[in-house]
Amino acid sequence: MALLQVPSNHDVSPEMSNLLPLATAEQQPYVSELLSFTLDRLHKEPELLRVDAERIRRQMQEVAVGNYRAFIAAADALLEIREEVSAVDRHLESLIAQIPKLTSGCSEFVDSAEQILEKRRMNQTLLANHSTLLDLLETPQLMDTCVRNGNYDEALDLEAFVAKLTTMHPKIPVIQALAAEVRQTTQSLLSQLLQKLRSNIQLPECLRIIGYLRRIGVFSEYEMRLQFLRCREAWLTGILDELDQRNPYEYLKGMVNCHRVRLFDVVNQYRAIFADDTSGSEENYDGGLLFDWAMHQITLHLKTLKVMLPKISEGGSLSNILDQCMYCAMGLGWVGLDFRGLLPPLFEEAVLNLFSKNMSSAVENFQLVLDSHRWVPLPAVGFPASGFSEESLDDVTPPSNLMEHPPLAVFINGVSAAMNELRPCAPVSLKHVLAQELVKGLQAVSDSLLRYNTTRMLRSNESALFFKLCQAFIEVAFPHCVTCFNRCYPGGAALVSDAKNLFEGIGRLLATSRSRELPKPTRNSETKNATENGDEPGVENGVLHSTERTSSASLEEKEEDLKSDPSSQKVETNEDVGRKPAAVLVVSPSYHGICSNIDAISKICHTYNIPLIVDEAHGAHFGFHHQLPSSALAQGADIVVQSTHKVLCSLTQSSMLHYSGNLIDRDRICRCLQILQSSSPSYLLLASLDAARAQLSDNPGTVFNRAIELAFEAKSLINNIPGISLLNFTDFPSFPDIDPLRFTVGVWNLDLSGYEADDFLCRDFGIISELVGTQSFTLAFNLGTTREQILRLVSGLRCLSTTFLHSHDRENSMIDVRDFAPFTKFDMLLSPREAFFARKRKVSFEDCVGEICGELVCPYPPGIPALIPGEVITETALKYLSYVKSNGASISGAADHLLSTIVICDS
Ligand SMILES: Cc1ncc(COP(=O)(O)O)c(C=O)c1O
Repeated sequence: MALLQVPSNHDVSPEMSNLLPLATAEQQPYVSELLSFTLDRLHKEPELLRVDAERIRRQMQEVAVGNYRAFIAAADALLEIREEVSAVDRHLESLIAQIPKLTSGCSEFVDSAEQILEKRRMNQTLLANHSTLLDLLETPQLMDTCVRNGNYDEALDLEAFVAKLTTMHPKIPVIQALAAEVRQTTQSLLSQLLQKLRSNIQLPECLRIIGYLRRIGVFSEYEMRLQFLRCREAWLTGILDELDQRNPYEYLKGMVNCHRVRLFDVVNQYRAIFADDTSGSEENYDGGLLFDWAMHQITLHLKTLKVMLPKISEGGSLSNILDQCMYCAMGLGWVGLDFRGLLPPLFEEAVLNLFSKNMSSAVENFQLVLDSHRWVPLPAVGFPASGFSEESLDDVTPPSNLMEHPPLAVFINGVSAAMNELRPCAPVSLKHVLAQELVKGLQAVSDSLLRYNTTRMLRSNESALFFKLCQAFIEVAFPHCVTCFNRCYPGGAALVSDAKNLFEGIGRLLATSRSRELPKPTRNSETKNATENGDEPGVENGVLHSTERTSSASLEEKEEDLKSDPSSQKVETNEDVGRKPAAVLVVSPSYHGICSNIDAISKICHTYNIPLIVDEAHGAHFGFHHQLPSSALAQGADIVVQSTHKVLCSLTQSSMLHYSGNLIDRDRICRCLQILQSSSPSYLLLASLDAARAQLSDNPGTVFNRAIELAFEAKSLINNIPGISLLNFTDFPSFPDIDPLRFTVGVWNLDLSGYEADDFLCRDFGIISELVGTQSFTLAFNLGTTREQILRLVSGLRCLSTTFLHSHDRENSMIDVRDFAPFTKFDMLLSPREAFFARKRKVSFEDCVGEICGELVCPYPPGIPALIPGEVITETALKYLSYVKSNGASISGAADHLLSTIVICDS
């Protein structure tokens, strides 16, 4: 096959190439060749080209047929290539579509990279200044620590530093936050400084604090002064608040003292710190602030005096307070605050008030005693000359003969008390007013006597005594009052004595009664009772000064002894032989519940002005039920002691002492109690007493219903048990009452001793007796007693009865226990006190008969001494002791509990 020969580029001259602009580079050689052809050649050229084309086509067909596989593969490859190219084309298009996004992403990346770079730079700077920054940030804590440790200078330096930073960098948030924190700390510094100003600090400290406050700069100069005074006032108020307002005297003393020292200090401090200058500068002039403040303090001081002075009930205290106030006012005079001139009206008012109050209570007491007075003749104690001479004006001892007239004696006591209170603080300015007050009191007494005379129906002997009292009022009491007043106000007697005409009414009354004869005094004027002699009931190591043995040791149950109540006769018998007892002591009820006639005894005692003391140890429940006996107090006893723990529900050892009437000197009782009592009261016991009281007061009258019902039920059941006897009310006709809650069970018909029966019941039935005796035992019923216990008791007694009723073969049935008690025959050779202090020795039990006992020998049960110190030891007592001991009683009080020896006094 002939291929068209195409000339190469090398063969075509450059000029020719330029002539063939339409030909491609590959066509250029052929076109150049064409140009070199002749015309003929050119005419033939198409034919030649056609032949060549034909040839080539044939050759192509041949090649294609010969290599058809390759052609097909090439065609497939071409197809594939075409598809891939179009796919690439499509991807290319979507790629082109993403390119703007890529561009913007890139620019974002660049931006953030720049920011990060910036931050990094800043962090690097931060790292480089890290420690400085840390120091800065710690400034508030540092300042806080300084404030807490009291390094105020350093704290304020830090504050100034931060303030400077804030002005330098007003826009830096850290600095602003720092400043806010520092401001808070400054605030706490401020309150700490003010708090210090409210405490007890001296001038240098005040100066320092004010210096700091000035540096902080929150207060203007005026505000600063105001703050200073406010804080110092708070300090003063705090001191006053701590004083005990319940004690007006102590409070006022404290207040005056506080003002004298502290107010003076504050004024001086103020002046030293805020030196008021004379430069006339507005800044330094306080506009009279200090003066106003000080005046305010003085006004408060005076107001408190006005409120508290009337609460003081002792003239001596008033006078003391006045002295102190004067001293205080004088001291404050150094700083221009002398307020002495303002004090007199306050004290005058207080004195007048005190005197009027005392006079009123004197009159009131007189009235009370007069109303309850029994008109019986009392021992006369002399009658001094009436009227008031010059000499008598000096003697202010209360006239002893007024003791014949208790209402007057009480009144004069009151007047003396009023005068005693007045004397230390009697202001001259009140001389006339107080004289009028005294006259007013006397007038009230006089009126009350007149009223008494018209409203009371007195028998003739009572009237005589009444008139005698009226006479004593005018002739003794009135002059005595004048004398007392004269002692308070020398020369003041006339002011009161002029008022004598006020008693004209009584004078007339006396004139009309002149004809009546006054009864003679019952005793000669030397007679004095123990109270008047001032004898204290002394106690030494528990040994009373008493020489008389009470009848308590004879309380064993020989019926005759239980049946008589000798107390009332005894009082009168003693009186008849000229021995006036200081007091009468009665034990009622007895351990067995038998009650004395306290009503009758108290009447007799009071006729002789003798106080009646009742040992009501076993009767604390009396009066709380209509079937219980009435209480000793209700029957007129003056002092009553009750063992609340015995019958009521308070704790063991707690008891109560009651008193009533006016024969009893309360202060004296308190003094005596102080000798006996611990100075550390048991609040447990006190609370239990209060609980016992509350238990009764919740339903008085019915609280004992159940116990009494059970007691009667038990009694009816026990009464039917053979061999068992119950002590009955009817057995004691001379005693007015018996406690229904006490049972004394006699076992003599069983030929048993009380000890044996008690032992039997305790061991086999768990029944505990209150008191065990030779022939009986006593049981106590109480608020806690139950029916189950009653039934157990009845079974126990039945069992006792069936076991012992007919067994008469017992060993000791030979002993007649009735021989032992009561020990009516005993001699006291020494008083218990003498015996206590006497020289002593031990002798054997058998050899001590006839010796003087040196110790207390008390078998328990029953807990009643068989021998007391000073008593001559008898055979009967020893026999009794041996008997009770062999029956299981333990011996208390004796040095040798086994009783092989007894302590006796060397005679
Ligand atoms: C009649 C009598 N008084 C007083 C007391 C003593 O009472 P207190 O235990 O409360 O001291 C007793 C004790 O049994 C007593 O029987």
